[in-house]
Amino acid sequence: MARGLFTRTVTVVSLTVTLSAVASRYSYCRYFYPIFEAARILACSPLSEHWCHTDAAKMSTCKDPKENLHNKARTSPYPGSKIERAKVPNDKVDWLVDWKDYSPVEYTAHSVLAGPTWADPEIGAKNFSPKFNEKDGQVERKSQNGLYVVENDRPRNPVGRTGIVGRGLLGRWGPNHAADPVITRWKRNGSGNKVTHPVSGKNILQFIAIKRKDCGEWAIPGGMVDPGEKLSAALKREFSEEALNALQKTEAEKEEMEKQLNRLFSQDHFVVYKGYVDDPRNTDNAWMETEAVNYHDESGEVMDNLHLEAGDDAGKVKWIDISEKLKLYASHVDFIRLVAEKRRAHWNETDLDCPDQSLN
Ligand SMILES: *[C@@H]1O[C@H](CO)[C@@H](O)[C@H](O)[C@H]1NC(C)=O
Ligand SMILES: *[C@@H]1O[C@H](CO)[C@@H](O)[C@H](O)[C@H]1NC(C)=O
Repeated sequence: MARGLFTRTVTVVSLTVTLSAVASRYSYCRYFYPIFEAARILACSPLSEHWCHTDAAKMSTCKDPKENLHNKARTSPYPGSKIERAKVPNDKVDWLVDWKDYSPVEYTAHSVLAGPTWADPEIGAKNFSPKFNEKDGQVERKSQNGLYVVENDRPRNPVGRTGIVGRGLLGRWGPNHAADPVITRWKRNGSGNKVTHPVSGKNILQFIAIKRKDCGEWAIPGGMVDPGEKLSAALKREFSEEALNALQKTEAEKEEMEKQLNRLFSQDHFVVYKGYVDDPRNTDNAWMETEAVNYHDESGEVMDNLHLEAGDDAGKVKWIDISEKLKLYASHVDFIRLVAEKRRAHWNETDLDCPDQSLN
C-alpha cells in the first residue's frame, strides 16, 4: 500500500457479495447493501478524513434496490474537491434511457493529471492508445462485469451515469482494480480447542484486521492491483505489506515469511465478491472494481508461524472475533458476514428488516 495517495484512498474499498454467485441466492437487499455502502469506506481517504465515521444512518436498502445500486457514484461534492456532479435522477441513471440534456461536469484531479506511474495519460495524448476491454500490455482494462461500451474513445461506466466525465481521482480510464484478502481461522482456547459461542453453539471465526492510521478504523487489509500483477499476488502482497510489515523485513525474514504465505494462500479459499463497486470516486469514464477473497487457515498452524506486525498505512493489526457486533466499515461487515455464513461460523443475525434468504 506504500504507493501514495491513490492506493491509500482505494485500499479500504471492498465489497461483499459475489454478483454471479450470490445475487441469485440472496435477497436484493443483501445484494445491494454493500454496494450502496461502499462509499463510507472511502471515508478514510486522507483527503476526506471528516467523513470518517461508522455510525452514519442506515438507509433502508430494501425499499428500492435500484436506487442504491448507483448512489455513491452520484454524491457531491466529489471527494477531495468542491466539484458538484451534474444531478442524475434515479430514472436517468441507465444509459438506455434517452437524455439529450445530460451535461456532466468534466473533472480529473491534479494528482492524476500530474502523470504518476499508476495513472494513464489523457485520452488523445501522444503515444497513448489504450486497448479497452482487454489486457492492454500490463494494464488490465477488462471489467469483471463483462464488456463495457467505449464512446468517443472513452470507456463508459457499466452501471450508468454519474454526473462527471473524466477520471476524478482514479488513475485508469475504465476499471480500476483492487484486491481485498480476508484471512480467517477458528478461535481456539488455551488447549487448542475451537471455541464455541455460548448461545449459538457455533464455532467462532476470526479474521485479520488492520487499524488504519488515517482514520483509526478497523478494516480489511487490501489495495490496488499493480499493472501486470496477478490478483493472487496482489492479495498476498497487500496482506504482507500491511499485516506483516513485509517492507521492513530482511531478506532472510522475507524468505521464511514467503514460505508460510504460500502455504496460506494455497489453502482453502473462495471469492466473496468480484465486480463493480459503487464508490464516490467513480465517474462516467472510470470506476472501481474489486475482488475479495477469503483464505482460511483451518488448522491455524500456518498463521501461528506468521508474526502479525502492522506496516505502512496500518497503525495496528490483530485477529478480530467475527460476530454481528463488529464495528467496521459497513461494507466490510457485510463482507465478513458472508464469510461467516459460508464457513458456518457464529453470527447472530439481528438485522432482519429485509426478507431473509439463507446462503447455502
Ligand atoms: C478448551 O476447550 C475444551 C473443550 O471445550 C475444554 O475441555 C478445555 O478445558 C478448554 N481449555 C482451556 C484452557 O480452557
Ligand atoms: C441475538 O440477538 C438477539 C436480538 O438482539 C438477542 O436477543 C440474542 O440474545 C442474541 N444472541 C446471541 C447469541 O448473541
